[in-house]
Amino acid sequence: MSVGDRPALSLADFERTAQPRLDPVAYHYYAGGADDERLLRENEAAWGRAALHPRVLRGVDAPSLDCTVLGCPLPMPVLVAPMAYQRMIHPDGEVAMAAGTSAVGGGLVLSSMSTTDMEEVAAASSGPVFFQLYVYDDPAIVRELVARVEAAGCQALVLTVDLPVVGNRHRDEVHQFTLREGMSIQCLTAEGPMPMPDEGESGLVTFFRRHLKRDLDWDDVAWLRSITRLPIVLKGVLRADDAARAVDAGASAICVSNHGGRQLDAAPATFDVLPAVVDAVAGRAEVWVDGGIRRGTDIVKAIAAGATCTLIGRPFAWALASDGADGVASAWAILRRELAIDLALCGCAGIDAISRDLLFPPQP
Ligand code: GLV
Repeated sequence: MSVGDRPALSLADFERTAQPRLDPVAYHYYAGGADDERLLRENEAAWGRAALHPRVLRGVDAPSLDCTVLGCPLPMPVLVAPMAYQRMIHPDGEVAMAAGTSAVGGGLVLSSMSTTDMEEVAAASSGPVFFQLYVYDDPAIVRELVARVEAAGCQALVLTVDLPVVGNRHRDEVHQFTLREGMSIQCLTAEGPMPMPDEGESGLVTFFRRHLKRDLDWDDVAWLRSITRLPIVLKGVLRADDAARAVDAGASAICVSNHGGRQLDAAPATFDVLPAVVDAVAGRAEVWVDGGIRRGTDIVKAIAAGATCTLIGRPFAWALASDGADGVASAWAILRRELAIDLALCGCAGIDAISRDLLFPPQP
């Protein structure tokens, strides 16, 4: 994967190569955040505010990046975050994302709004596939989706809990976002994959307003727990009290997330709330985190703060748009190289050796 006449060196390179290849509707759908996009910037900035306090003379040569997430082995503590409509940015969409990820045996979270059937994505994946779930108003649709997820061999359900309504996304309004002709999603409502947008709104807003359950609450989590044997991850938790309640409700993992700055623009950056959530969960479940993670050092900071795993979204989308499966594989290679260097520089022989004292200033 090259940027002009040199190879891509960091995840930031992929957005530069992707943008000219994408039509504005697709580019801005992925790139955008809510309101003034304060949180979109703040997520990245927050990782930059902490430093790493390296240990020396630890005899670390080639650190191991291996880890496990919900019992599944991973080649590094990273998953591709769930992102909708990937065939909008590359003709091979989610299958190419899975193939590029499989180059390292990596894992991904597949969106409910995937433009490729989950069965096909699972077949193209050598690593774990977790399924992101939106709860439809019609429980029969949810039951059918969950049964398919189990049959396809996905390893967990990742329930998104931060989208009672779609955030205020001006870029999608400006472009009257809707899916291109011929694209479909996992499960169709009577209206098909996406209706024509109502006047002045994006198609996503129209679709979610008409078909997804807007009054989702803790009873729905209990119901979901009762209809599946898969582990449940609650994604979109930012508060210690909600995290503790999620564990009580049977969640096997909490994903600290503000939906990549696409929902409540005034919410805190994920790194800023991660330690409090980790402390509230107190080892009773895994804690995952996403939002603005762009470097190996950000991954080290997340694990040091107590996360088991990180999720990275937009950079993988830009890599997919730039060069399909090869682009995605090259993004993984960049991340692996960075994380290996950073672990060695911090004196850590493996992911298990990362602890909170690596964060500077020290955290309680
Ligand atoms: C869907 O989850 C979106 O954020 O657009």
